[in-house]
Amino acid sequence: MQNLPTHIAFIMDGNRRWAKRRGLPRDYGHKKGAEVLADTIKNLANIKEIKFASFFAFSTENWKRDESEISAIFSLVDEVFSKFEKQNLNIRFKMVGDLSKFSPELQQKLIKIEENSKNNDGLTVLVALSYGGREDVVFAVNKLMKAKKSAVTSEDIAKNLQTACAPDIDFLIRTSGEMRLSNFMLYKLAYSELYFPKYAWPSFNKKRLLKALKIYKKRNRRFGGN
Ligand code: IPE
Ligand code: IPE
Ligand code: MG
Repeated sequence: MQNLPTHIAFIMDGNRRWAKRRGLPRDYGHKKGAEVLADTIKNLANIKEIKFASFFAFSTENWKRDESEISAIFSLVDEVFSKFEKQNLNIRFKMVGDLSKFSPELQQKLIKIEENSKNNDGLTVLVALSYGGREDVVFAVNKLMKAKKSAVTSEDIAKNLQTACAPDIDFLIRTSGEMRLSNFMLYKLAYSELYFPKYAWPSFNKKRLLKALKIYKKRNRRFGGN
């Protein structure tokens, strides 16, 4: 396949509505969503042209949710990554966001996964946890303020983001029909192609991934030129 995105990103939205429509408990939607996340990472790892994949798993604003929902989401995150740890695939994981808010055990686990996978040269997966796009820019600005006195460039900011290990996002998919960014990787989304399918994240699958990529390939990216 040609003309595929180098960096694809997902706002995995619609888990609770998916469960509600089926008369299932809320957290079952998150459980199915976590399974789809794991499958999607594996599917993407088989597409050589795609080098980076970012997933919005939990936003800075998601702390507003009930404690029981938050802890269900985090045990699923723990489960998904424990499985990846055992599988030893050629995937490099990078956690982005404010991990300091998680339990010390989960923090350690996430850092270990990052450490153990850092020399893998297959797909790079950015997992956004307690992540906010604005907070990421603030992070970069604070780093730059400590480091230099002269005026900063947009390149300086890009290089100091929590997400600096990946290039700009080429293609963003947000499931569930909502057409907003909800404070995702704002700086990296400046020139991304956007796709807002109606189905919820737990209904995403390989066929839908391939359809989305077909749609991306038809887009005419001009970047302000002719
Ligand atoms: C996305 O699904 C998962 C997270 C935000 C953690 P939601 O939980 O937002 O489900 P909906 O959008 O309310 O259906
Ligand atoms: C965005 O979804 C965050 C994640 C998918 C992790 P939300 O469901 O939290 O966003 P809003 O509230 O609809 O904007
Ligand atoms: Mg939502």
